[in-house]
Amino acid sequence: MKIAIIGGGPAGLYAAILLKKQRPTAEITVYERNRADDTFGFGVVFSDATLDNFEKYDLPSYRRITQEFAYWDDIAVHFRGSVHRVGGNGFCGCSRRTLLTILQDRARELGVTLHFEVDIDDEAQLEGADLIILADGINSRFRDKYVAHFQPEVDLRSNKFAWMGSTRPLDAFTFIFQETEWGPFIAHAYQYEAGHSTWIFETDPKTFARAGLTGLDERQSADRMQQIFGWFLGDHPLLTNRSMWRNFPMIRSKRWVRGNMVLLGDAKATAHFSIGSGTKLAMEDAIALADAMQRAPNVAAALDRYEHGRREEVEKTQHAADVSLVWFEHVDRFWDFDPVQFAFGVMTRAKAITYDNLTLRAPDFVAEVDKAFARQVRAKGFDVDVDRPVAPMFQPLRLREMTIANRAVVSPMCMYSAEEGVPTDFHLVHYGSRAIGGAGLIFTEMTCISRDARITPGCAGLWNDAQEAAWKRIVDFVHANSAAKFALQLGHAGRKGATRLMWDGMDRPLAEGGWDVVSASPLPYFPDSQVPRELDRAAMDQIRDAFVAAAERGERCGFDMLELHCAHGYLLASFLSPLTNQRTDEYGGALDNRLRFPLEVFVAMRAVWPAHKPMSVRISATDWAEGGMTGDDAVEIARAFADAGVDLIDVSTGQTVRDAQPIYGRMFQIPFSDQVRNEARIATMCVGNITTADQINTILAAGRADLVALGRPHLVDPSFTIKAAAWYGADVFCPPQYLPGKEQIVRNSVRDRQDVEDLKIKAKPKTRAELRSEAAKPLAAE
Ligand SMILES: Cc1cc2nc3c(=O)[nH]c(=O)nc-3n(C[C@H](O)[C@H](O)[C@H](O)COP(=O)(O)OP(=O)(O)OC[C@H]3O[C@@H](n4cnc5c(N)ncnc54)[C@H](O)[C@@H]3O)c2cc1C
Ligand SMILES: Cc1cc2nc3c(=O)[nH]c(=O)nc-3n(C[C@H](O)[C@H](O)[C@H](O)COP(=O)(O)O)c2cc1C
Repeated sequence: MKIAIIGGGPAGLYAAILLKKQRPTAEITVYERNRADDTFGFGVVFSDATLDNFEKYDLPSYRRITQEFAYWDDIAVHFRGSVHRVGGNGFCGCSRRTLLTILQDRARELGVTLHFEVDIDDEAQLEGADLIILADGINSRFRDKYVAHFQPEVDLRSNKFAWMGSTRPLDAFTFIFQETEWGPFIAHAYQYEAGHSTWIFETDPKTFARAGLTGLDERQSADRMQQIFGWFLGDHPLLTNRSMWRNFPMIRSKRWVRGNMVLLGDAKATAHFSIGSGTKLAMEDAIALADAMQRAPNVAAALDRYEHGRREEVEKTQHAADVSLVWFEHVDRFWDFDPVQFAFGVMTRAKAITYDNLTLRAPDFVAEVDKAFARQVRAKGFDVDVDRPVAPMFQPLRLREMTIANRAVVSPMCMYSAEEGVPTDFHLVHYGSRAIGGAGLIFTEMTCISRDARITPGCAGLWNDAQEAAWKRIVDFVHANSAAKFALQLGHAGRKGATRLMWDGMDRPLAEGGWDVVSASPLPYFPDSQVPRELDRAAMDQIRDAFVAAAERGERCGFDMLELHCAHGYLLASFLSPLTNQRTDEYGGALDNRLRFPLEVFVAMRAVWPAHKPMSVRISATDWAEGGMTGDDAVEIARAFADAGVDLIDVSTGQTVRDAQPIYGRMFQIPFSDQVRNEARIATMCVGNITTADQINTILAAGRADLVALGRPHLVDPSFTIKAAAWYGADVFCPPQYLPGKEQIVRNSVRDRQDVEDLKIKAKPKTRAELRSEAAKPLAAE
């Protein structure tokens, strides 16, 4: 077999090594346009997990690599004169030049042919190859040559970055967030061998321009960085090697294989440097390709196996990289945070590291985070313990005169079980048990303002006395038997009205017994859905008045808070989104116009809702669809509602149009809550695939939301909060009837938590840095 590899970077060389081991008789040739020792960049970084992989696949190169590596365990975050260090991270760095030399030597030793200073510009030069590996890097000529086939998507990110080096020794992966007269600069730095460290500098385009970096040459821009970070670098110079400022391209290719050609490493997909995974991904691609070649009967089947087997892992890493890079792009949002909260945000930005996880690794750090959080709560006038604070989830929050005892919320969820809009005993038990279960705040399902405002025939309403009386009974029960506050969510289904019960086909039109539906524009949801009537002003008046009447009934029921539903494609959301609002009057067009009717409804409700009680608005912060609402629009919407007197934005997403493409995942809507909260400077509630108290604490402590709502988890576990409180040693209200249960779980949780933590600590393998430092310790005298 003949294998030709274009590109002698980590991907190409490691693929050559693994394939040659697998097929000693194969003729494997690597073509590299540079000289053997002619390499850009300074250090590369690998996690312990990646090294474990290298150990498994090629022991000799693993041994040489690890002999050359610098190890560290800590991440240090420098911000506004403070340093926070967190251990247990298990990383190591190595010089890129050394890594390539090791891989070249190993490839030669195995019998791979290496041709340097050979630039391949046409695969015809490789005639006779059974397999051609395109490992030609980020600017892959071959990916571009077959662009229509590989269909790469290149997302050039806004921040500027430059890769430099220094002789400054570092004993931790170091982030420095530096305020300058021009704006914020960030340094990501780590040591990769004795006396050498990598320094990646990053800044936003405006700060870049203000700092006069445009047009400077390598040396001049290094001097500017030296000026900014000199206080830390001391006498150590910054070194350059093709250290030009550039914008990071996030590359995703739709296809990785064309005939017998396959893309590997940066050529097929990139991952932002802030998660240090470029070289790791490149070498793990090589592993995946070698595995596929081992298992499949022929090259075509192997390439198919590689592409399909590897894609998910690459996309997961890219998603983590995306989340991380967005955090760095918007670092100014957190610039006025308490430094310890800021550092917590840095640590938890990509979701893999959480509050609990850090509590095990760096208990003092988390204790400081808790204290900072408690100090903020105390500053709002609460008499909370700052020296031995409870976890953020159990800190109170005040909205107007309503105090919520903890930050866990039962998200609004339709039960589709009302009779002619009247909530039933099912609702009494449903809301009653969740209130008793300890959540600080519970929401009603979307409660409809009129009969034809319902989504389905089973939706609850609040337009007549029978409904008012039934809701009052539930509110009274909640207030009499729990400490939960109760919010009423009012809405109008718009074009999603007259549809079936959830379990009969969500959003599908009713076969019979339907009613006429209305919307901002006459656009059906499904092609076979009812075409809604476009609202005229008279109908808008009626709807606004119905919202007001329902709000007045809500007040008479005794609800503590009122939420206006402007999300998920329902009536008011249909005004907000340009995808569903195609009006040409003053309610359509620019965002200000699209906001006009929802704001008008809000203002009219606010006027009758008691001044001491808070109001919130639920929005879909993005439509997840081309041409739809974005996070930036959500910030504008939040600002407009804040000016009109809203106290909290309930940040959800999507459900506007059928062909949306949401990116689901754990806590997937948090970036939007974060953006609204920290750009519009308003309290937010986040929601969406949040399932654990650990996640709630992570979100709150990082300042990404003020309240955290859980929907589906509460459907199966009404007592979610009471259990979490026992686990974290916090106290939540429990009615006297249930006290024995609470006492038992509190007692058991202390022991159970200790057991789980001991197990986790025991199960965690020592990092290579820990093993090294243990080996270096002199043996204790006997
Ligand atoms: C300026 C810069 C500095 C970087 N520094 C670091 C760093 O310090 N640490 C780190 O972890 N990551 C660094 N990276 C990222 C890292 O290099 C990549 O993620 C990783 O090297 C990907 O490996 P690869 O083998 O896919 O591609 P590369 O390492 O880019 O290797 C591709 C190779 O193909 C060769 N080539 C391209 N076209 C042809 C052709 N037509 N014919 C023959 N040869 C060809 C190139 O010369 C190159 O050697 C840096 C990237 C850039 C752009
Ligand atoms: C059965 C069900 C009914 C829902 N009904 C509503 C509703 O009436 N109003 C609303 O704003 N959101 C509604 N939602 C959305 C939830 O409030 C929540 O945003 C969503 O389920 C994501 O949170 P989760 O991942 O914690 O479930 C509903 C969700 C479910 C599962």
